[in-house]
Amino acid sequence: MRNNKGPGPVWRCRQASNPATMQRLLRPRSYKTASQSSPGSVMFRAVSSASILLLATALAAHAGGDPALGKHVFNRCISCHEAATDRDKVGPHLLGVVGRTAGSAESFLGHYSEAMKSAGAGGLVWDEANLAEYLKAPRLKVPGNKMDFAGLTNDDDIANVIAYLKADPKP
Ligand code: HEC
Repeated sequence: MRNNKGPGPVWRCRQASNPATMQRLLRPRSYKTASQSSPGSVMFRAVSSASILLLATALAAHAGGDPALGKHVFNRCISCHEAATDRDKVGPHLLGVVGRTAGSAESFLGHYSEAMKSAGAGGLVWDEANLAEYLKAPRLKVPGNKMDFAGLTNDDDIANVIAYLKADPKP
């Protein structure tokens, strides 16, 4: 116990899976004097700090997707979209799409649906939150748009593909 050199919370969290070790951990020397602090409340503190740590890790993992994994997810888009160049295919190019107003790629103006153009005119900008909603349910986010794609069901895939688009991939 004395040579715990690793990062405290992670170590504590791993140890916590063994109830016997946890009991010992919860009564280290420093707590011996602590008649003020009941084992219950120490336990509560240990458990809640571990779960806050897990929650924070989960949220962080979500907020920052992985562009390398996203490049792989983009294989599902690539028949209709270029992201590394400004070449349009069946769909508009997605170079620099993060932060772009919906329906506004100049080279594609003659091809967007009315639905997509009016969403943009109504103020829809492809920030990360809007992209995530669109990629999850394209037909709900912009009813009547003509992207023939059912949507990505996995939240990690969505975060990763957005990270890839955001990284402004080069060929
Ligand atoms: C079957 C072809 C197809 C596939 C697959 C497809 N899209 Fe699209 N996408 C389109 C078309 C067409 C549009 C234009 C929609 C409109 O004008 O209504 C579009 C529009 C978009 C837009 C809005 C662009 C803008 O300029 O407003 C984004 C963002 C987008 N697609 C991302 C993706 C991503 C990411 C994937 C893969 C996960 C994907 N699409 C898969 C055809 C496709």
